[in-house]
Amino acid sequence: MSKQEKTSRISGYYKLPVEERLKIAAEFAGLSPEEMETIRKGGGIGVDVADRMIENVIGTMSYPLGVAVNFKINGKDYIIPMVIEEPSVVAAASNAARTMRNGEGIKTSCTASVMIGQIQVLKIDNPEQKRSAVIAAKDELLELANQQDPVLVKLGGGAKDLEARVVNSKIGPMLVVHLLVDCRDAMGANAVNTMCEALGPKIEKITGGKVLLRIISNLADRRLVKAEAVVNKEDLEGEEVVDAIVAASAFAEADPYRAATHNKGILNGVIAVALATAQDHRAIEAGAHSYASKTGKYTSLTRWEKTPDGDLVGRLEMPMPVGTVGGITKVHPISKISLKMMGINSAHELAEIMGAVGLAQNLAAIRALATEGIQRGHMRLHARNLVAMAGAEGALIEKAVEELVGTGEIRYDRAVAIVKRLKEPQDSAQ
Ligand code: MEV
Repeated sequence: MSKQEKTSRISGYYKLPVEERLKIAAEFAGLSPEEMETIRKGGGIGVDVADRMIENVIGTMSYPLGVAVNFKINGKDYIIPMVIEEPSVVAAASNAARTMRNGEGIKTSCTASVMIGQIQVLKIDNPEQKRSAVIAAKDELLELANQQDPVLVKLGGGAKDLEARVVNSKIGPMLVVHLLVDCRDAMGANAVNTMCEALGPKIEKITGGKVLLRIISNLADRRLVKAEAVVNKEDLEGEEVVDAIVAASAFAEADPYRAATHNKGILNGVIAVALATAQDHRAIEAGAHSYASKTGKYTSLTRWEKTPDGDLVGRLEMPMPVGTVGGITKVHPISKISLKMMGINSAHELAEIMGAVGLAQNLAAIRALATEGIQRGHMRLHARNLVAMAGAEGALIEKAVEELVGTGEIRYDRAVAIVKRLKEPQDSAQ
């Protein structure tokens, strides 16, 4: 497949057998036979590798790896690896991406990869004056921070700025110094924490105070991704659905109880890609929720509006602290393959793809919720599980699902009867 004609628009992908799906994904991504075999074999890490990663290892566990199709982001087609245990998420992302690609597709952008390191200073008299003293020593402090990571500096990253605030707390005022570090293609926690620890003694000298915590902040509000898409009203079955989606968005914007679930839906997509690429997904979740409450009131990470033409426009903005170097991203066999599948060359590109998936996932969820509800899709999947449990295999599964859904009663006894009947002619022909 040449780059030009490479399209991620694949209809009926979900109906294919696993091996066929793998072949299509492999062809799209240019995977080698060895990489395909890694996926076939479960793509996991061995206990020996696991034992070097964390403590008290007794084994490993695996999760499903699926791919979402149909994505067009910044004019480029992507198939997106997703690791998740929840049914419907991959299908929903693929469906929404199909709807969103009819216009210009999803457009994304991101800021520089700047993470914040925090240094907490206690026991200071006249905190405002000490704050000024720290700011006055900025150049010296930045130089000391950058001495800790010459490789990052050589790559154009490193400590770029320093800020300080006086924070009033229940134990009195404390000075909080923020070190702003451009982490380039790394998530950056190690680099930032090392720099913060190195600055501790110098800051104690400047302030006469006592430095306590020195740690990265997961409210990564200097490392943001934005995604935007216009969806034609015709692709949503009309302006009524557009209005319903705008109303669903308004609910999440206004009400924290709804916003939490709305944002959970966004994270369904974001975290599935984070897992497939071995990111620190807890950092992404912490960043998402804290950013959603930045104004003091928890709200949604997306906004959906109606355009003057009656179409739907959606926008997402959230922190996306991800890396394509460091951590286990380039070590874990599946994460390496996932990055290759998406043709990722930088942390920026990965962050933008994850933002786009979050926006698509959110559209899928609120569209379903604002129209037929989500249970119908779920019941279909439930039907699939039931017919499989009842002994259906291969092509028989879809046939049995159709029949079972058609009965309007998705029950195991019904599944057993249908599968038994559908199997009869095959058995007697043998
Ligand atoms: C379920 O995992 C996610 C949803 O609840 C998201 C939402 O309500 O927007 C469907």
